[in-house]
Amino acid sequence: MEVVPLTTAGEVAALAADVVEALVRRRPAAVLGLATGSSPLPAYQELTRRHRAGAGPSYDEVTCLNLDEYVGLPPGHEQSYRATIARELTDGLGIDPARVHGPDPGEDGLATAGERYEELILKVGGVDVQLLGIGSDGHLAFNEPGSSLASRTRMKTLTARTRADNARFFGSLDEVPRHVLTQGLGTILRARHLLLVATGAGKAAAVAAAVEGPVSASCPGSVLQLHPHATVLLDEAAASGL
Ligand code: GLP
Repeated sequence: MEVVPLTTAGEVAALAADVVEALVRRRPAAVLGLATGSSPLPAYQELTRRHRAGAGPSYDEVTCLNLDEYVGLPPGHEQSYRATIARELTDGLGIDPARVHGPDPGEDGLATAGERYEELILKVGGVDVQLLGIGSDGHLAFNEPGSSLASRTRMKTLTARTRADNARFFGSLDEVPRHVLTQGLGTILRARHLLLVATGAGKAAAVAAAVEGPVSASCPGSVLQLHPHATVLLDEAAASGL
């Protein structure tokens, strides 16, 4: 694992944007794995800013695969991860919405949603770079502590802590969905490059456990230690527990 301690959140965003742009220049039909949450947002803003300034590569041939999605929100809900990714990144990069995919119960239902998404990931040739944040309890995507290290895309129930963490995006805690579809840890590990970004003191303990602790389902982020090409970009506060 390559751990890159930087000073500011702005530096983390700029370096993450550099990694994505370098990949798309090298491979115009790259498959980008996208995460939601506030951690990758500055990187998404930086990518969008560069693209609008005419400085970035063309994203016309890129395919995007979202990590996870809430279950039960009405279609088009502004806090759905599909809507969030479109608003925060892919619309700004001019990526055709038909090239942006996420786990989705769709008409075929929840029971097969995970399997169908796994098939799609394989069909597009797998993820080239997977952006990741980390939850304050060490979760990756919506793989809460205790998730199998070999898990595949499936439905999960959110912990009270994650629902409370994410309540800031909703009107109240009651509105935060209880269930989600999420790529599994085994799914995430199949991406060719994992790029985790973490900023702020609130992530210091989770980062230390993921990077320096034992590989364990108690800290889903620790699976990065099993990956041959994992990069962790940290600001000073997020690195303070190392
Ligand atoms: C959510 C997302 C994760 C994200 C985590 C941390 O639970 N499903 O992918 O890493 O939140 O979010 P934030 O970056 O806002 O702290």
